[in-house]
Formats: sequence, structure tokens, C-alpha cells
Amino acid sequence: MSANQRVVGNFILEGHLEPAQVQSYISEGNVKSWLLLEPEGGANCPASAVKSAGLDFACVPFVKKESGFPTESARSLISALDALPRPTVLSCSTARRASAVLALYLTHRQSDASCEIAREGAALSLARALDLKASQEPSLASWLELCSKEMKRSDLIFRQLFDTSGSSTYTYLLGDPASKDAILIDPVLEMVERDLAVADDLALKLKYVLNTHCHADHITGTGAIKKLRPEVKSMISRASGANADIYLLPGEKVCFGERYVEVRATPGHTDGCVTYVSQDNGGMAFTGDALLIRGCGRTDFQQGSPETLFDSVHSQIFSLPETFRVYPAHDYKGRHHSTVLEEKTLNPRLTKTKEEFKSIMDNLGLPYPKKIDAAVPANMVCGIQD
Ligand SMILES: [Fe+2]
Repeated sequence: MSANQRVVGNFILEGHLEPAQVQSYISEGNVKSWLLLEPEGGANCPASAVKSAGLDFACVPFVKKESGFPTESARSLISALDALPRPTVLSCSTARRASAVLALYLTHRQSDASCEIAREGAALSLARALDLKASQEPSLASWLELCSKEMKRSDLIFRQLFDTSGSSTYTYLLGDPASKDAILIDPVLEMVERDLAVADDLALKLKYVLNTHCHADHITGTGAIKKLRPEVKSMISRASGANADIYLLPGEKVCFGERYVEVRATPGHTDGCVTYVSQDNGGMAFTGDALLIRGCGRTDFQQGSPETLFDSVHSQIFSLPETFRVYPAHDYKGRHHSTVLEEKTLNPRLTKTKEEFKSIMDNLGLPYPKKIDAAVPANMVCGIQD
């Protein structure tokens, strides 16, 4: 620790440290990682001591240029902090730059991805509220203001929409702010007008409608949207066996403007279930019914298999960075999202062994799905009803 030390939650801001001070952080065992904002290898660089102690170490030089601090570095600083386990030491020569990076990070991460991200000026306001050194340094204060503005402009447009007609389905609208191209995941027939109105309000051009799987509990809005907007193309996994304009294979990317979601095969609830993964907004996984908040989809209908579902979730979803948010196809308790870490540690079914999981899933004793006889045949043909 030094005179510059400042602790904010799980982050420790530090200035220049002597080797003995670095060593005391390591030997006390209270920190798990270190982010250095100076070029690696300078005088008294903590890199080798931190690395050899087995702590996670990252170095993202954050240095003032003639035109000021570069806003391009904002995303790499945020990604570096995302990847590091906490508590984390953030260090530079005086802890000033470290405090600016922290203010930006907290602003960006604490905002709810379902709302507008990073209100203009929010990072600087937070730095002032926490009385961080960066708020008193004009070049860092203006960096914070510029970063907030740029991030607001370039962040993914995102809306989580809920089916109020009865199925408790979440439909997700993702839009690229530059091109205005957008995709819609898992629309519900009864909510199509609402979904299109939201896209229109945001001046988005709907390009693709994606389904995570052939649903048994509601009729998809895909066909109705295509009737209203003939330019829209439908997508579903090839393994689903359902009709669509474009069939998706694992590993493919669905692009909209400069954004994309990656297709990951997560069968087990049905053969054709996929999870769509976005790297935007800190990482998001649209898991369909493969993984729900503190639960998972049933495995007793539509080619369900508990063993397959267990393997899918562990290999394709729990392997994502733990900070990635999990957005399921449903929630029946008013919850909006979870994270990979939360489900890895708190999901009452998927924290168990494969054998225990199978036993739980085989003994759920759930009633026959109410709408399955109408929904599955309709969804096999995009939800179009004559
Ligand atoms: Fe389902």
C-alpha cells in the first residue's frame, strides 16, 4: 500500500510502488489480479512479481498524448477489467489515471444493459461523487466526458421485451447504432405489433428474425412479421427441422451492421436449440430454453435429453466469460437476466453432477405443455397460420 492507495469496492487504486510494497500485496493474499496502466518493464514494474505469484496480470498502457488521453483505449481498458478476477489492483504512477479508468468502468458496468447505457457525463459525475483524483485533473475529466459520449453513441441498441399475453416469453431486439440494422430473437405472435412499433420508434431496420428453437409454449411471431415486412428473413437452426429462410449451423455468425451474434448449438431441451452470443454490452448470451435463470427447459418432450442438455450448458454456455449476461427465453418470476457466474454457482440443477441432473430432470412431474399441440406444428412452419 502507498499514500496514493484508495479502495473502492473490489478495486484498489495505487500509485507508484516499491518492490516491497508490491510484495506485501502479494503475500497478504487479498488481491487476485493486477492491471498496470504503464508500459510493462519500467522501473519497479510489478509485472514479474505479480505473475510469478500466480496472480492474473494485465497491462494496458494508458498514456497522455499530445491531443490528450485517447478515447480509443476505453474499450480495451473495460475488457481488461472484465477479464480479471477481483479484488484487483489498478496502478499507474500517481493513481490518477487509475481512478479515471475505474470511474469509466463502474459507469459502464453498473448501467443496466436493458436501459440507455452511460448517460452523457455519467463517468465524470461518478468520479466527482466518489471524490476520485481524476475529477480534479482537467485532461482526465475531459477524457471521461468524451468516453461517455462515444460509448453512448456506439453501444448496441438493446431492448428486452416481455410477452404479456401469457407465455412469459422474452423477445430481444438488438440494433446496430451506425447502420440501424437490427435483429429480433424469439418474437411471440400476439406481440408482433408491439415489437415492430419498438423497432420503428428506434428507427431500426429489421433484417432477421431468429428463433432459439421450435417453441412448444407459444406460437412464434416470425411468420406474421414476414407478412407485414416482406424484406425480413427468418432464421432457425438447421437441426430444428423447422421452416425458415435461412438455416443456421453452429459457429456461424448472424451479422447486422457492424455487429453479430454467434450461433452455439445447445441441444437437450430440443434437438435444434441454439444459444446466440453477442460480444456487445460486456457480453450477452441469449440462451433460449437451454438455460433459464436458476433453471433450465424441460427435457421430457420434443427430443429432450437431460444428458445432452447438461453437456450443452457446460460446454457452450458455462465456458463463456463469467461476466457475460444470460438472457433466457422465459422467466416466470419477474427476473430479467442473470450472469454466467451466477448460473455456474447458483443454478439449483446445473451445479449438480450429470447423474444428479438427470435424476432431477426425469422426476420433475410437469404437466403436459398446454399449447404444445397447437404451437409445435405452427412453429415448424414459421408460425404462419392460414
Ligand atoms: Fe421451449
